[in-house]
Amino acid sequence: MLNFSYYNPTRIVFGKGTIGQVGELAKGYGKRVLLHYGGGSIKKNGVYSQVVESLKAAKLDVVELGGVVPNPRLSLVREGIALCKKEKIDFILAVGGGSVIDSAKAIGFGTVLPDNEDVWDDYYMKGDCVVRKSLPLGVVLTIPAAGSESSTGTVVTDWENNLKRAVNSETIIPKFAVMDPETNYTLPAYQTACGAADILAHLQERYFTMEKHNDLSDKMLESAMRNVIAYSLMALKHPNDYRYRAELMWTGTLAHNNQLDRGRVGDWASHDIEHEISGQYDIAHGAGLAIVFPAWMKYVYRDNIDRFVQYALRVWDISLTFDDKDAIVEAAIDRLEAFYRALGLPVRLSDAGIGNERVRKMAESAMIGRDSVGNFRKLKADDVEKILKLAL
Ligand code: NZQ
Ligand code: ZN
Repeated sequence: MLNFSYYNPTRIVFGKGTIGQVGELAKGYGKRVLLHYGGGSIKKNGVYSQVVESLKAAKLDVVELGGVVPNPRLSLVREGIALCKKEKIDFILAVGGGSVIDSAKAIGFGTVLPDNEDVWDDYYMKGDCVVRKSLPLGVVLTIPAAGSESSTGTVVTDWENNLKRAVNSETIIPKFAVMDPETNYTLPAYQTACGAADILAHLQERYFTMEKHNDLSDKMLESAMRNVIAYSLMALKHPNDYRYRAELMWTGTLAHNNQLDRGRVGDWASHDIEHEISGQYDIAHGAGLAIVFPAWMKYVYRDNIDRFVQYALRVWDISLTFDDKDAIVEAAIDRLEAFYRALGLPVRLSDAGIGNERVRKMAESAMIGRDSVGNFRKLKADDVEKILKLAL
């Protein structure tokens, strides 16, 4: 196990009827609140009115900025930064999913940057940036998926240049996240599925490490993977069953709050490759991961086949008894693909209507601002191209 430091300050307020607490939670951070949200789902399902009522009861001044789209855009981030400066905002409340939260995080630190620094050029485009300050941020989460409600990450897309890039910093971890699983009842099946694929991916990225002797993390990751596999299928069948929604929602947070990968280095190549696909084709992140992960596994598994055999036996209950490690891993990848298909997700680029036209471009773009992607094996542009071709 490697040495580590772990810090995660997000207060999680979880359960039925918790949205009414948001005003009290926000009150300590100043009077002027930016309420940031997406394309309108929160107005249809009643979340918006509950949030506004609670903020007003706490006597907070509310300024609104809606319109965040999935794969959130740099252009709206810039608009949000200008608005926060003009309105002298003290606190940002993100109400929605990962896209809204990530946009809010960008606005939060972008607002307090020195005049000579740019949120995109000096941060998203620089892998090793350090975020020193941010406006405080709170979250009302409406979809279990990205884990952004208590993660260090924010992922934003510069749509004009088809670049989707991340910043990671403890400075931008939300102060609190209100998570009511009942808000998930209105999720379209496809979004539930994409969310589940993302949660599973966050666990797999952490599982596939070269680090040995990190047993507790392995076992916690395996349990969490089995949980998301079982409960996502049940949530799709019974969308209004609180038990399944609650399991998925809590697993989604734990999958990405960095607790499950202490003492090891996770991989993250599949995420970086997926960001190229959604940066080019604007597909949902979870759908892109369902396409990339099996191809990545096929490409690298022999580098540490024993770790993949362990995954096959403990997560997918592969019961092949003959001594053929390749067959065991192959069976596990088949199960993973079958799971994605059962969720209704694409598992090949062609399933998403994507051909090989931009494969080389995506492979080269993945190298912009860095030398390689991934840690399990450090992948160069040629490797990424081969993985994308395996995914055709
Ligand atoms: O925009 P609205 O109208 O709210 O609709 C959203 C959106 O269309 C809808 N939705 C959300 N909650 C709903 C709902 N519809 C009905 N009922 C509800 N309760 O779902 C759609 C997808 O929302 P989005 O926020 O895009 O989903 P998700 O949470 O999967 O976020 C995806 C983004 O997060 C990034 C991804 O790359 C992607 O850009 N990620 C962020 C990470 C982080 N910050 O740590 C890590 C992840 O690996 C990921 O990269
Ligand atoms: Zn993800």
